[in-house]
Amino acid sequence: MDRKVYFDNAATTPIRKEVIDSMHKILLKTYGNPSSTHSFGRSAKTQIEISRKSIAKHFNADPQEIIFTSGGTESDNMLLRCAVQDLNVLTIITSKIEHHAVLHAVEFLDENQLAKVSYVKTDAEGLIDFEDLEQLLKADKAKKLVSLMHINNEIGSILDLDRVSKLCQENDALFHTDAVQGVGHYAIDLEKVKIDFLSAAAHKFHGPKGVGFSYVRKNSELNPFILGGSQERGLRAGTESVHNIVGMANALEIAYDRIEEEQKYLKELKVYAIKQFSTSLPGVHFNGCCSDLERSTCTLINVALPVPEDKATLLNFHLDLKGIACSKGSACQSGSAKGSHVLEEVVPLSHRNKPSIRFSFSIFNTKDEIDYLIETLNSFIKK
Ligand SMILES: Cc1ncc(COP(=O)(O)O)c(C=O)c1O
Repeated sequence: MDRKVYFDNAATTPIRKEVIDSMHKILLKTYGNPSSTHSFGRSAKTQIEISRKSIAKHFNADPQEIIFTSGGTESDNMLLRCAVQDLNVLTIITSKIEHHAVLHAVEFLDENQLAKVSYVKTDAEGLIDFEDLEQLLKADKAKKLVSLMHINNEIGSILDLDRVSKLCQENDALFHTDAVQGVGHYAIDLEKVKIDFLSAAAHKFHGPKGVGFSYVRKNSELNPFILGGSQERGLRAGTESVHNIVGMANALEIAYDRIEEEQKYLKELKVYAIKQFSTSLPGVHFNGCCSDLERSTCTLINVALPVPEDKATLLNFHLDLKGIACSKGSACQSGSAKGSHVLEEVVPLSHRNKPSIRFSFSIFNTKDEIDYLIETLNSFIKK
């Protein structure tokens, strides 16, 4: 039988069986519209509110601060656009290595002269320059919003949320973090770390696709993002996806219940992968700081592979043929073809002609799968 190995968990994760079971129950029995006042509607509404409470608890947040959305992209768009429209934000400070859900949203605001956008410097490891951030924050008196991602989805670098939060508070700026890759994998205590807005998506922590949430700090006074009914305190109209919301809450509960053992497992897996890549593929380059477990997420590595140029274009095809799922990303040297905007910022010139690939892990991956990956890469390079 052909082997299948899934190393693309930063793109999306498989749903846990327990989560599917919880969703299945809702789909079968709790089909009322949560806005209906009869018993069917009330049951659905109850499930939503139980889920909201459960999600809020993991972040030390108030349930009313959790607004359900369709996922990371919607949350990023909602929070950035509402902050500008409703809170007099005139300048957004972000980085060039954010997800497109943030970058394209801020470009829209800039192009339409709704807010000015400044980009904080990042280094070759994908970490932000705090001195530059401070200077940007102090540049003028305009009301500012800092939007920086918690964990970079391509290279895995981790942002020091606490340090950014303190700088924002000192400079009277709002702070949004796209925590899509961090939620469910790392603990975030919103009582200890003052973050005004946060985006999350269930499908990155073994929950369903098409559902996520925005954390909106109390008294933020945002106006409706989607107009219509009065769901989600009027901020986000539309009949709630009850089974998805329940599935998300369930996935998050399991993720944070098992966070210690699962982080330990993932760290061991990543250490093993780094060792195998380093010893079996001389010349491999770990992009950003992804080989450093303190400063990068345990869920992924991003490597520039020592593949001869004439073979590079065939690599992804070959991995796919061998049943290995991963994400390609390249930093184009010429700039003629569109490469990854993140790798453009971090990959040194000496590695730009090599194919870069992200392998992202979950607790369903094994060391044996990593051995298979290394064998496959080795035989491809040597062939
Ligand atoms: C960091 C980050 N932000 C936002 C998104 C978009 O999330 P969604 O696919 O739920 O819209 C992703 C998805 O890959 C992501 O990794």
